[in-house]
Amino acid sequence: MKIGIDRINFFTSNQYVDMVELAQARDVDPNKYLIGIGQSKMAVIPATQDVVTLGANAADSLIDDENRDKIDFVIFATESGIDNSKSAGAYISGLLGLSHVRAIEVKQACYGATAAIQLAKGHVALNPVSQVLVIGADIARYGLHTSGEPTQGGGAVAMLITKNPGILELDEESGFITEDTMDFWRPLNHNEALVDGKTSQNVYLDFFNKTWTEYKDKTKLTLSDFKAMLFHLPYTKLGTKGLKEVLLEANEDEKVELTREFEAAKRYNNQVGNLYTGSLYLSFISLLEHSKDLEIGDRVGLYSYGSGAVGEFFSGKLASEFEDRLPQINLESRVQVSVGEYEEIYRSQLKNDGADIELDYKNDHSKFVLTGSKNMQRQYLIQ
Ligand code: CAA
Repeated sequence: MKIGIDRINFFTSNQYVDMVELAQARDVDPNKYLIGIGQSKMAVIPATQDVVTLGANAADSLIDDENRDKIDFVIFATESGIDNSKSAGAYISGLLGLSHVRAIEVKQACYGATAAIQLAKGHVALNPVSQVLVIGADIARYGLHTSGEPTQGGGAVAMLITKNPGILELDEESGFITEDTMDFWRPLNHNEALVDGKTSQNVYLDFFNKTWTEYKDKTKLTLSDFKAMLFHLPYTKLGTKGLKEVLLEANEDEKVELTREFEAAKRYNNQVGNLYTGSLYLSFISLLEHSKDLEIGDRVGLYSYGSGAVGEFFSGKLASEFEDRLPQINLESRVQVSVGEYEEIYRSQLKNDGADIELDYKNDHSKFVLTGSKNMQRQYLIQ
């Protein structure tokens, strides 16, 4: 049975900070951010959006009267969850009006959405009429004036995993690895991630080589079988480094083609920044939107990495509806905020101090918003 991504959508806030302005404010050569890190804009997430509302805003358009009753499993992947007990899956099911579902949250840094897809694949294999809603939503926060600051961002990707999918048919095999590593973590009392940036880069690339090698051993496929190679993109330069490793196996024509497809695949990520577990899938959307010569049946490789650390290389073939089911994404209509405004927004995030608060949401026109906290319960609004 063919199983994979039947529908996909992406959501982020309508505000961004320009990386040249951020570099100037931090007294850094702008080319370090633009070229060295490979980011030109960074999404700024207002206090009125958390992972639940980001996810709901991404998932809403995937659900209609035809499939509502077929969705029986909601898997919410996030590193930036809002509750130590209740899953973001339960919160979002309420907002989306899904009740006859199993709803859970999964966590493994930026790998969570890939774990969710693999769970969904198994679920659909056993229950072919089921549809699984997978959401990867995160707000990447490292702290103002830290070296991780230019690699922040945020947003959500929502996907429906079904049999006979319209967009991507997943292949059977994958290569995967877990090694207990302290490259990025967030202790329970921290709102910002702690990170050993150099170690995270090294493990990311090491795991790419290991999982790609395992995948090739299992499938007997080679680089020539791929139209595009996609990478988890915490910042686009790291994917460029991953691509460089694999291009050692390419002939000249393949180098040109794989590089061109990667350029298409990194465009949205360059404009949004890191969305942790959704980043690989935003890159997939970017490929679909910007590549000029994809065809049904083309094989795409996907490398997923989550610090801590898990890596997986897997693949899929473009399915018959991939051109007709492109999400509507308009990053050009976002509003630029100054560095000062970005810092103010950064500091305005909901505190975990238990105090009641009402947020000013008049400038947030998203369908799902967080309006505050009352009696230690987040207050959501559908507008
Ligand atoms: N012009 C052009 N390039 C320049 C430059 C200039 N003026 N100045 C510096 N550069 C280049 C450097 O040469 C370097 O390039 P290479 O990586 O090719 O050597 C690059 O810019 C970055 O410079 P530094 O290494 O000096 O930057 P830094 O010490 O400030 O740290 C970082 C960069 C490690 C990415 C840091 O931002 C960070 O820790 N980010 C968060 C961690 C992260 O995203 N890790 C990725 C893997 S973990 C993961 O994927 C999971 C997840 O999403 C959380």
